[in-house]
Amino acid sequence: MKLIILGPPGSGKGTVAERLEQDFSFFHISAGELLRKEAITNTLQGKKIKALIDAGHLVPDEFIHDLIQKKIGNKRKYILDGFPRSVEQARMIEDFQVNKALYLAVPEDLIVERLSGRRVCAQGHHGYHIKYLPPKKAGICDIDGSALIQRKDDLPAVIKERFKVFHEQTAPVADYYQKKKMLIIIDGSGSPDEVYRLVRKVLQLETTNTFK
Ligand code: AP5
Ligand code: MG
Repeated sequence: MKLIILGPPGSGKGTVAERLEQDFSFFHISAGELLRKEAITNTLQGKKIKALIDAGHLVPDEFIHDLIQKKIGNKRKYILDGFPRSVEQARMIEDFQVNKALYLAVPEDLIVERLSGRRVCAQGHHGYHIKYLPPKKAGICDIDGSALIQRKDDLPAVIKERFKVFHEQTAPVADYYQKKKMLIIIDGSGSPDEVYRLVRKVLQLETTNTFK
């Protein structure tokens, strides 16, 4: 199965994708994570990417498309988290033959609270929330033991800009998949466990893990 997870900044795309990866062995490809890795390379290109991310703007379509394609290789069971993020990017992956696009619908006021309490591990793959999804030991990633940090683009002014970019460029991607009858809208406003339960239900995935 090939999935796309869409939604506003901080709607929980990474959190859902991480769980599907752990429980059902999906290959989780986060566009933001790939770009943040590029941004820390001390090259002119890295610096340009960092400036775009820190300002809450999108990187060029071609660039992210090539990174994603390289990461997917010949995998057949994956989740695209944060890609496509413009109609142009969606057109670029017509030949990927994705099965479904999930859209996490969350009101903006909830999202601001989620983003301001978010912490991510220094390795960049695992996400937490100081109130809603705390690590077992404060400040330390449960999975890889690295320090938890706050993303620079989670500052209030940048969050505002990311929302603006989302409405202008990414919301039309949901319409694009709606027209193709691939879109499934999920209420993402509940707790992490509730949202995950809804996602599993629509994908008809069950787990033996009873607490989830
Ligand atoms: P990216 O990293 O993809 O950022 P984003 O889309 O803004 O989404 P986030 O990662 O902020 O949120 P999320 O939906 O994953 O939420 P999460 O699960 O962490 O992209 C960053 C930047 O890279 C972009 O701004 C752009 O510059 C660039 N970029 C990326 N993709 C690109 C593309 N395709 N083209 C061009 N440029 C691109 O959850 C958020 C918080 O809430 C966490 O603390 C979490 O623990 C908590 N939480 C999650 N679910 C719940 C819940 N149900 N209840 C309570 N708390 C919850
Ligand atoms: Mg994310």
